[in-house]
Amino acid sequence: MAGKTTISLIKCDVGSLAGHHVVPKPLLEIGEKNLERAKENGIINSYYVFNVGDDLELLMVHERGESNSDVHQLAWDTFQEAAKKAMELKLYGAGQDLLKNAFSGNIRGLGPGVAEMEIDERKSDPIIIFAADKTSAGGFNLPLFRIFADPMNTAGLVIDPSMAGGFKFEVMDAKESQSIVLKCPEEMYELIALIGTVERYIVSRVWRARDELICASSSVSRLSLIAGKYVGKDDPVMMVRAQHGLPAVGEILVPFMHSYLVAGWMRGSHWGPLMPVGIKDARCTLFDGPPRIVALGFQVADGKITSDDEGKPMIADLFDDPAFDLARRETMQYASMLRRMGEFEPARLSVESMEYTTLPQILEKLKDRFKPV
Ligand code: F6R
Ligand code: MG
Ligand code: MG
Repeated sequence: MAGKTTISLIKCDVGSLAGHHVVPKPLLEIGEKNLERAKENGIINSYYVFNVGDDLELLMVHERGESNSDVHQLAWDTFQEAAKKAMELKLYGAGQDLLKNAFSGNIRGLGPGVAEMEIDERKSDPIIIFAADKTSAGGFNLPLFRIFADPMNTAGLVIDPSMAGGFKFEVMDAKESQSIVLKCPEEMYELIALIGTVERYIVSRVWRARDELICASSSVSRLSLIAGKYVGKDDPVMMVRAQHGLPAVGEILVPFMHSYLVAGWMRGSHWGPLMPVGIKDARCTLFDGPPRIVALGFQVADGKITSDDEGKPMIADLFDDPAFDLARRETMQYASMLRRMGEFEPARLSVESMEYTTLPQILEKLKDRFKPV
């Protein structure tokens, strides 16, 4: 739509180095090459390619709107090409998240994760994107609640009259494929009642209530529901707008001052502490984790990511900062406590969440040996 800017963050695990650890350089270079060409051809206006653990992340800014088939095709073709390279190099899990063969205009439902937001640019529009590995979109429920509804987190909810009308949350029910919109502060308790169930109810969008300004968008997909079996966690992405009548960048980051537990980690089957890290540490090691999250800040202007004099997008690696050392230390304390419990709940996810793991196969194998009591 003319005059509007769209931010698309599309990610996919196309294969990785040394197990499910990190996306190596040759695959990132395929992302760079394809997105540079798409920029020259006018499909997108600017881009940034990075990785979090084994997920290849394509940030693209353009004027084609959400769910645009050219932009989605670009991401799909790039993931296909990177997966092919991963296969040639015999990297691990080559093509892991590419669950369908045919692309028909929209990448949603085919495996890759998508967060998109079409905005009317404000005079100055700061955006933060978040990308996590070894967890799923419900892991963003807690920080999204804190940012947009918790007056003990976001001073602006109390002090800034332009935020006084509160925010509306769209919540997806991943099990029943339905959604509901709840408004805070009025429906705060109902909102928490739902989104505290992080494996089922997932915050997908947030708007400022007084004028419906879009403020946040997250990827909601369930790879296991697409594939019918466990094929990796969804490793979510989201984007949040900041400042001038919206939460400040610092209010958006403060929920990450402390680590908290998310579903995922080893074999997508454990509670694990989330570790905020800079891009240099965005790789999973210990027990295939701990789950990592990266936050990148930038400005969107005239349909592009604001760039420097050489035309390079200016990106702030927000968790690459000593202010998050405390959360990183806590992550390791919680990790050590949880790993001492091995495969005993609550270190391991509950049986309902294990539906799409190898646990059903074990139950199937043992089913004839159970005797009535
Ligand atoms: C979690 C994840 C890893 C793998 C684990 C086993 O999302 O990707 O923890 O589940 O390394 O992987 P496979 O079965 O490929 O050996
Ligand atoms: Mg993987
Ligand atoms: Mg991953």
